[in-house]
Amino acid sequence: MKIAIASDHVGCDLRSYIADHLREKGYEILDLGPEPGERADYPVYGEKVARAIVDGACQLGVLICGTGIGISMAANKVPGIRAAVCSEPYSARMARMHNDANIIAFGARVVGSEMARMIVDEFLAAQYEGGRHAARVALLTQLEEKYAKK
Ligand code: RB5
Repeated sequence: MKIAIASDHVGCDLRSYIADHLREKGYEILDLGPEPGERADYPVYGEKVARAIVDGACQLGVLICGTGIGISMAANKVPGIRAAVCSEPYSARMARMHNDANIIAFGARVVGSEMARMIVDEFLAAQYEGGRHAARVALLTQLEEKYAKK
């Protein structure tokens, strides 16, 4: 499985730690930046990971900013993206199982590196359950279509 990862400037160090961890676990990683030391606006990097997923280059994504909020908001503007901000592993797992989230986001100012690793590991290990959740996920897609600019 190929995973896209990006951050803003606040999340750079944690992104590097998580990317290395995932490579060690055998995942192929598409690191979309930014370079350390570069100031980086979170909407730009949220969109990069979102595009990698909707274009089919990657199956899932990881986004990191100070809180995880701004960068996930950016990704969620892209139709087809379901980015979940999680500060602990249980929610990360449920985001895959029930919400079919395709991006996990968290805050480098909120979680430590070990918690971040556990969040990502739970997210990637979980499987979307479908079944009764599928109709609700379909309703999310309907909302995208309903409010899409014509
Ligand atoms: C940058 O200072 C900060 O606003 C950003 O990393 C993020 O937390 C936004 O949601």
